[in-house]
Amino acid sequence: MNLSKFVDELPIIPIVKPVGRMDGVSYYQIRLQQFKQKLHRDFPETTVWGLEGNYPGPTIEAHRNQLIKVQWINELPKRHLLPVDTTIHGAEPNKPRVRTVIHLHGGVVQPESDGYPDAWFTNGYKIVGPDFTRKIYDYPNMQRSTTLWYHSHAIGITRLNVYAGLAGAYVIRDPEEKYLNLPKGKYEITLLIQDRSFNEDGSLYYPCGPEPPVPGVCPSVVPDFFGDTILVNGKVWPYLDVEPRKYRFRVVNGSNSRFYSIRLSSNQPFYQIGTDGGFLESPVVINEILIAPGERVDMIIDFSEHIGENIVLTNNAPSPYPRGNPVDVDTEGNIMQFRVSKNLSCYDYSIIPFKLNTIIPLQARDARLERNLTLVRETDRYGRAFLLLDDKRWDDPITIKPLLGSIEVWTLINLANSTHPIHIHLVNFQILDRQPFDVDYYNETGEIKTTGPAVLPDLNERGWKDTVRANPGEITRIIMRFVPYSGLYPWHCHILEHEDHEMMRPYEIIT
Ligand code: C2O
Ligand code: CU
Repeated sequence: MNLSKFVDELPIIPIVKPVGRMDGVSYYQIRLQQFKQKLHRDFPETTVWGLEGNYPGPTIEAHRNQLIKVQWINELPKRHLLPVDTTIHGAEPNKPRVRTVIHLHGGVVQPESDGYPDAWFTNGYKIVGPDFTRKIYDYPNMQRSTTLWYHSHAIGITRLNVYAGLAGAYVIRDPEEKYLNLPKGKYEITLLIQDRSFNEDGSLYYPCGPEPPVPGVCPSVVPDFFGDTILVNGKVWPYLDVEPRKYRFRVVNGSNSRFYSIRLSSNQPFYQIGTDGGFLESPVVINEILIAPGERVDMIIDFSEHIGENIVLTNNAPSPYPRGNPVDVDTEGNIMQFRVSKNLSCYDYSIIPFKLNTIIPLQARDARLERNLTLVRETDRYGRAFLLLDDKRWDDPITIKPLLGSIEVWTLINLANSTHPIHIHLVNFQILDRQPFDVDYYNETGEIKTTGPAVLPDLNERGWKDTVRANPGEITRIIMRFVPYSGLYPWHCHILEHEDHEMMRPYEIIT
């Protein structure tokens, strides 16, 4: 499909207002709905899913240490917009096709409010999943200011629900952030990036199965999905008119499988100020930033030296990452365009502070346990390749039970051939290092024989993370403290096609 680029203005995602107060705190009701929305100038309106009439959903703005209550209300129709594979876990033919549960990604919340994959519910709560316990979620916001995002997490159909549009941003603010004097107001913009494909009539396209098809399974889950157009905030390849000054962008990769390696066509640097879990210690000046599904990047771009220029935000990440197809420079190689066409409306007093945060490193010697956890490729009963964590399926007995308050090191041993962005609910972690190892030797003996030195995380990964890229042929060590709640949480690959096809495990924090 040959769609013109940069013909639609970037939508600024609205901020949702609470409907009132409950128990003395702000109370939100956010409705999940199906509606039509214009995604590109040359398309008729596309049927999408979204929240409060928006795809992507509106942004929730919260303040540190101020609890809010949110009721996610399922007003979706009975029919799914996309092909549901009923052979994968949790999506069996006896389950309602349209069911949702919303997870606040990166949120420090109790298990009952975390959006457990089996805590789904249908329109009007007519049918609820086995782990459904409550309608109204508590988000305490007892965490550093940062960009989180929310999205559907229903077992077995997360890839379809998110692709249909059930995702949005969630911003936590605090006074420290305010004192940093970063660009704010209309100069602080969230960019939610998602790839999509379309049918000729402008309707959303999602494959019914892989090529060649799987005998006897239709629709079938696909190993991964890569759309040939890139949307930002719900528009295909949008543009943004900017002033010659500094802007702060909160970038969320909300794509199913696609990694982005972003650059500016003007070759100017980004100033990355934050990661998934908050500010870095100091800004990292960087020309290219890699963002896997689920990861967030907080960054400043300074347009002041580029009056009159049109600058394209490009993507150069192969798919699958890192050994897949190189990008097509006409399509997936583009994300959006900045036009430095506006006049400066007032002096730019914002700064890029030298010091942003203090991050105290967690020490491996303080760990109560170190766990070796494999990422391994297997074949399911239909002959489809799929991936497992620790060689176990979602429904296998729980084997990871960290003690509340304890520190653990998890060594992710990637035996597969692509990078998997591993996300752990509840906790923020630090990346200790990555090290190459002999995969064949491990497969034969179950022992790690490293083949090179351990490498520290990239400069822009040396902050709090909730999603880490585990590269093929490498062990990736992360360290975290299991606080402040006990109970059951998932950890999984954030490539949604993998997550839906068993690359997800529960873990339980015990006391
Ligand atoms: Cu962004 Cu468990 O998910
Ligand atoms: Cu994966």
